[in-house]
Amino acid sequence: MKTDKKGSLGALILAAGQGTRMQSTTPKVLHRIGGRPMIYYTLRLACALKPEGIGVVVGHEADLVRKTVSESLSDWGITRPVSFIHQKSLTGSGAAVLESLPFLKKFNRALVTAGDAPLLTFDTVHAALRQHEDQKGQVTLLTARLRDPRGYGRVVRSPLGEVVRVVEELDATPKEAAITEVNSGSYIFETALLMDVVRKLSPKNAKKELYLTDALEQIRTQGGRVSAHLSATGEECQGVNNRLQLANAERILNRRMLERLMLAGVTVLDPSTTYADADVEVGQDTVLLPGTILRGKTRIGNRCRIGPWTHIEDSSIGNDCEVLSSYVKEARLLEKTSVGPYSHVRPGTTAGPRARIGSFSEVKASRIGYGSKVPHLSYIGDTEIGEDVNVGAGTITCNFDGKEKHKTLIGAKAFIGSNVNLVAPVKVGRGALVAAGSTITDDVPDGALAFGRARQVNKVRK
Ligand code: UD1
Ligand code: CA
Repeated sequence: MKTDKKGSLGALILAAGQGTRMQSTTPKVLHRIGGRPMIYYTLRLACALKPEGIGVVVGHEADLVRKTVSESLSDWGITRPVSFIHQKSLTGSGAAVLESLPFLKKFNRALVTAGDAPLLTFDTVHAALRQHEDQKGQVTLLTARLRDPRGYGRVVRSPLGEVVRVVEELDATPKEAAITEVNSGSYIFETALLMDVVRKLSPKNAKKELYLTDALEQIRTQGGRVSAHLSATGEECQGVNNRLQLANAERILNRRMLERLMLAGVTVLDPSTTYADADVEVGQDTVLLPGTILRGKTRIGNRCRIGPWTHIEDSSIGNDCEVLSSYVKEARLLEKTSVGPYSHVRPGTTAGPRARIGSFSEVKASRIGYGSKVPHLSYIGDTEIGEDVNVGAGTITCNFDGKEKHKTLIGAKAFIGSNVNLVAPVKVGRGALVAAGSTITDDVPDGALAFGRARQVNKVRK
């Protein structure tokens, strides 16, 4: 929102809570969804509203949360200034806001939201903000109708439909507990009034905490207007408090991601067994077969076939590639390269164009040149293979002497027979031929034929 006569906007993200129900030593907002800590989604959403500042309230494991967030800001594309507020006593969402008043007072208006609500969408929060501005109320809370409202604060309305207050489940009467409209935990406040009422909160409730939700009733008693923006779907207002809700959020965000890919021209055979992290990119007419898992900053080109049963992480796959039942991490496959089934492509590998890493092979920190093939049962590590090289079945590079990794160099058009050991450091020249079963410890000149095996002896048996 622009700073204009309507006033400046701040965003406050509550992330100090312990997250007891997660049963975890990891702070709740750092649990991962779509490969990112869950607070990433809230920060991205807050940033998209273009506030003048974003405050993150930390408390439980404060240093870890602060460090993780501050180190990730540029990677996450958070361009608005972020400051941290350290909540000293973890006594509720109201206490979190109370300790944030020095931050909040810089703004006329503030979005207050929870770090455990990764499903919220920009469109809904933006619409709530617009509604808040249009209606000129003192607070607008985002609500949803849930078929199963258990665990959420219920929105109590007057007979005329005005929001009277939010009652937490533990404090609700059976009649109130039957209400299906719930508080999402996101609000837009006029900060001047919020500052006033939040100081008056009292811990007279089942949890003996300061509830931010009680600020609504206070605002109303002071003659202020409390309005609600009802989310159209409800789905996005679900919070993450335990591992069941974590899995639910993962499923929903994954579905949204796959929907985006499908609408952009990617075929996904079975969305229920296909996973793509938040930053994954996949090109047009690529087919993702069942059991495909795309993690981190993976980019896949056009017209590829990926899967089934394939895990690709932080890798780049060119156009027209195929990866079948394999694991690829921090590697680059250039166009028309194929991998699998059952191969492991490890960090620092670049293969292609038109290369082939076939079945049961492991390739690490190696360059496999244009048109070259490692088709069966090989280990290739710290190796540079030129163009049009054929590596026979069962060939391995012995690159590690127990202390250091040594390089193997294989020139263009070389032919390595089956079951060869290449003991690094070693170089096989251009167009050289290495006989099957050889153990090569000395360099092979260009074009030479190398035998490195004992001659066969046939003896007459008695
Ligand atoms: C809260 C709301 C509830 C709403 C639900 C939506 C209150 C009292 N209740 O309940 O009405 O339906 O969210 O998901 O607010 N936090 C702090 N400091 C604290 C305590 C909590 O920063 O001392 C943060 C947490 O990290 C969390 C957020 O506030 O991000 C909400 O706290 P949580 O304990 O998850 O509240 P809910 O029980 O989910
Ligand atoms: Ca919560």
